[in-house]
Amino acid sequence: MYAFAFRVFFSKLDPETAHHLVNPVIRLIGLPPFSWIARALTRPAASTRTKALGLWFPSPFGIAAGFDKDVRMVRGLAALGFGHVEVGTVTAIAQEGNPRPRLFRLIPDRAIVNRMGFNNHGAAAAAHQLEKLRRRTPDIVIGANIGKSRVVDVDDATADYVRSASLVAPHADYLAVNVSSPNTPGLRGLQAVETLAPLLQAVREAAGDTPVLVKIAPDLTDDEITGIARLAVREGLAGIIATNTTISREGLRTDAAVVEAAGAGGLSGAPLKARSLEVLRTVRSAVPEDFCVISVGGVETGADVRERLAAGATLVQGYSAFIYEGPFWGRKLNRALAAH
Ligand code: FNR
Repeated sequence: MYAFAFRVFFSKLDPETAHHLVNPVIRLIGLPPFSWIARALTRPAASTRTKALGLWFPSPFGIAAGFDKDVRMVRGLAALGFGHVEVGTVTAIAQEGNPRPRLFRLIPDRAIVNRMGFNNHGAAAAAHQLEKLRRRTPDIVIGANIGKSRVVDVDDATADYVRSASLVAPHADYLAVNVSSPNTPGLRGLQAVETLAPLLQAVREAAGDTPVLVKIAPDLTDDEITGIARLAVREGLAGIIATNTTISREGLRTDAAVVEAAGAGGLSGAPLKARSLEVLRTVRSAVPEDFCVISVGGVETGADVRERLAAGATLVQGYSAFIYEGPFWGRKLNRALAAH
């Protein structure tokens, strides 16, 4: 049914307009009595419960950062079966992001190109939302993803990240440091070990007891990935999230003119699958067994989730396939996981 709705309706809409239409529906699903019905339909089986970061996750599969940038849909997303919700990216200073259009579907590839540019209401607003949620629904596992405010110079990035970390960390189950989005000039340069070390130290201090993870790009070389993985362990981080979107456009089926028209931005979805799995293996080989690795990129099916878990992922996330698969995607993956 969703495949039909997607073909005749959603695929004809501007993708960002479609996202804005879906947003209030997911919020509604998070409220009683809809949340009770959704939970009854989508509740993960007891066998999918997973321990990570010192917490119990109802399922190893969660929704990746970028879908709920302003902490508006957490309860709805949890009711739809996602085992955790990573909100954000939020920045210390509220910002509008890049001019529209900035979100594109590459349908033949089941892929997305985005150059949203961290549109969000700011870390203080996110902290307020998180605090309310914590009081009402303490059982939902929530990660908060932070990035650099666009107007802040890259050289002053640490203080900017620290400001966000201090605001959101007290209300989140984990903090994700995003140094890998391709849509903020200079951001990915922060992945260089010399710059990353002091940044992670400062964020860790600001985060207090909240576990800190770093989210990396798939476009790094394997040596760079190993270097960051070792650094993360050395700095006492709780884990690594791999990966963000790619700037590569290799191996796409979509008409070259359509890809060209979409322009710059990060590519996600099915074409990212192979590289994301490779990065997971590289990270896992460089970190201790109990170090948390969250694998994300091109995951579409229960078999994909199982493959990531078998390759050493502690948890798995996804985003793009939600757009192609629809509201019961989380349930479908949880059922496939429980069946094994
Ligand atoms: C993203 N992603 C993302 N990541 C992040 O750390 N902060 C963000 O704000 C965003 N924003 C965002 C917007 C859109 C429209 C998309 C499609 C993606 C990246 C996302 O969390 C994930 O890492 C990649 O999309 C790869 O996973 P999938 O989509 O292939 O499952």
